Amino acid sequence: MDLYGKDFICTQEWAFEELMAVLDLAAEMKRDRFSERWAGILKHRTFFMFFYNPSVRTRQSFECAATELGGHAQFLEPRAMRLKTAKAAGETVEDAAKVMSRYACGIGIRILEDQVPYYGAGDEMLREYAYWADIPIVNMADDRFHPCQGLADVMGWAEWYGGGPGQPDYGALRGRNFLLTWASGALARSWCSVQEALLIASRFGMNVTVARPEGYDLDPQVYEWTRQNCAAHGATFRTTDDPLEGYRGAHIVYSRNWVTPQAYQDGVFQKQAEIEKAMAYQGWTTTAERMALTDNAIFTHPMPVDRGSEVTDEVASGPRSAIYDIAENRLHVQKAVMALTMGGADL
Ligand code: CP
Repeated sequence: MDLYGKDFICTQEWAFEELMAVLDLAAEMKRDRFSERWAGILKHRTFFMFFYNPSVRTRQSFECAATELGGHAQFLEPRAMRLKTAKAAGETVEDAAKVMSRYACGIGIRILEDQVPYYGAGDEMLREYAYWADIPIVNMADDRFHPCQGLADVMGWAEWYGGGPGQPDYGALRGRNFLLTWASGALARSWCSVQEALLIASRFGMNVTVARPEGYDLDPQVYEWTRQNCAAHGATFRTTDDPLEGYRGAHIVYSRNWVTPQAYQDGVFQKQAEIEKAMAYQGWTTTAERMALTDNAIFTHPMPVDRGSEVTDEVASGPRSAIYDIAENRLHVQKAVMALTMGGADL
């Protein structure tokens, strides 16, 4: 499987065999984390990490990944550049991408909804970088997708339903019931992680339920892809506005707050208005009582968790919580993505 030079912007755009090549290597890397086999893959090479938005896990895991592959990850922010914006003259994406390609082995970019004038503009910017750059662009979370999170999620679920850490069984996910539920909270959160979760859960043959109050639907294109992915496996996709229904028989519960499709007005992300809208919907919290309705489900979340609003402490820190395993998996899947797309090594 030759993935050298390939951009990674959304899991839906990679063939299943390509995703499995990454996931299989990630599991091998997890089982034998500091093996000499990986230690020189990016020797003397630099990965640029370009952050428009803050991060804990993404920055830390990419920096560790670069180090463990023998390379270096350089942290960049817009203020460290002189980029052209809607309001200021400066360097174009074309020039920035072409110059960065002369230095680095890959570029990771994070740009979320509050940094762009309309939904999808962040994803468009990544694709503009991908168009001009001669090196792989890795999506470190944009306003539509979070592919590294999606891979870490499915690896964690397959470990829990397989043989444990480093022993995922992806076939064991097929036919299981996946609940993505909107959750209470005042964070006005992005669609990127939850949309990627829908795509990856359906890609691996799970029955998908999205529970959300009326008015909180996600990107229709993502719903359509999810529906198609499910249909390809004979699995089901449905939405409901009942906060309890989806828990019954669920094997995986994912709760997270997210914004409405009306989050932009006049080219500005309306964070405060979204927070106020969300406050009208209390009681969309994952609790032990709700988890008791499931088929002994695991709890999943990309973190940071809004404890007390999205989920109770009892569930987030409980014996069926996969959150830390999944956070750890960010490191392993990103090492695998970097090795395969930037290392060019025979793995
Ligand atoms: N899950 C995730 O992307 O976490 P950070 O925002 O902390 O990077």
